[in-house]
Amino acid sequence: MERIRLQVSAPHGEDYPIYIAPGGLVDDMLLTALVPRKRVAIITNVSLVPHYAEALAAQLPDASLITMPDGEAHKTMSTVADLCREVARAGLDRGSTIIALGGGVVGDTAGFVAASYMRGVRFVQIPTSLLAMVDSSVGGKVGVDLPEGKNLVGAFKQPSAVLIDPSTLATLPAREWRNGMAEIIKHGLIADAELLNPALHTPERAVELIQRAVQVKIDVVQQDPYEENIRQYLNLGHTFGHAIERVTEYQWAHGEAVAMGVVAAMHLSHDLGLIGKDFVTQVETMLAETGLPTRLGGLSPDALWEAMATDKKWRGGKSRFILLAGAQQPVIREGVPREAVIAVLEALR
Ligand code: NAD
Ligand code: GLY
Repeated sequence: MERIRLQVSAPHGEDYPIYIAPGGLVDDMLLTALVPRKRVAIITNVSLVPHYAEALAAQLPDASLITMPDGEAHKTMSTVADLCREVARAGLDRGSTIIALGGGVVGDTAGFVAASYMRGVRFVQIPTSLLAMVDSSVGGKVGVDLPEGKNLVGAFKQPSAVLIDPSTLATLPAREWRNGMAEIIKHGLIADAELLNPALHTPERAVELIQRAVQVKIDVVQQDPYEENIRQYLNLGHTFGHAIERVTEYQWAHGEAVAMGVVAAMHLSHDLGLIGKDFVTQVETMLAETGLPTRLGGLSPDALWEAMATDKKWRGGKSRFILLAGAQQPVIREGVPREAVIAVLEALR
């Protein structure tokens, strides 16, 4: 299949290409163009070594293969410290390249290593989860969680290239496909109605789905790379979602928490008079049919509010939500009262 090349313009001339290339992971010519053969480290997680890291390492014989444990629980400063030490022992210098091979957890963590080690080395993203392909590998946000909150430490570190090889999705567990679909539906709600067409939501149309979804992210981050205004729209469902992840100690995956957060954001939008009930029901049905959660079950509204109150997006203690005033009409609402939010959470138990 033909490869697709997209281009992202980034501040300070740090523009970079995104390739959607089936078989790209073992495409010697493409890898040669994207990864200089000077000292290279491939950072991946332990589960992905037999799947893809060995194949990539075989293409880059001089690269060091460095692993981190699998899972959000390891997206921490302690993992960053371990990885930085391994990168140093591998002899990487300022002219070296770090490749992140994996899902969003590897991308965010390895990206923070690339941003910090020797004050920054070249960084290439090779996302292997649907979520990382359409969202986390693009736009330069990297970082890790603290016990006090999600993504509280991080940096903007633009990749020098993103290589999406959709054939890696063949081994992606169904739950992880659904997690990627949560961000894709979110992209559809904020910017591209075609992404809400269920006919597109199938692995057979993965290339088209990824291209459309990643284009939404590109369009937003090009206009607002440092999240000063419209990039906040990408956080639809995330204030609720990050709180759910924290309260459940990451037992809910990011995509699941975002899906639930989108449902909560839509109910809040409805309660504030921004959208009609039919639209809320339509999106809730789509998320449920995708197999994503639309009810909170036993999660405590009070505990969620407490977790939200430390969200880094709340400025000066004032609540801050991305809501919808219609399809593809995201809006920012500040100072939504606690009672209105608790009422939504109670209704969604
Ligand atoms: P993840 O990285 O934990 O990956 C999910 C699981 O899928 C892991 O067990 C992983 O090993 C496995 N996996 C990945 N690719 C696979 C493949 N091809 N075959 C088999 N298994 C595979 O989770 P995720 O959903 O990819 O990413 C979520 C993270 O991304 C969260 O930490 C979230 O905060 C972050 N995120 C960051 C941004 C950003 O802009 N930086 C945007 C959205 C999400
Ligand atoms: N995931 C939100 C962003 O990249 O800004």
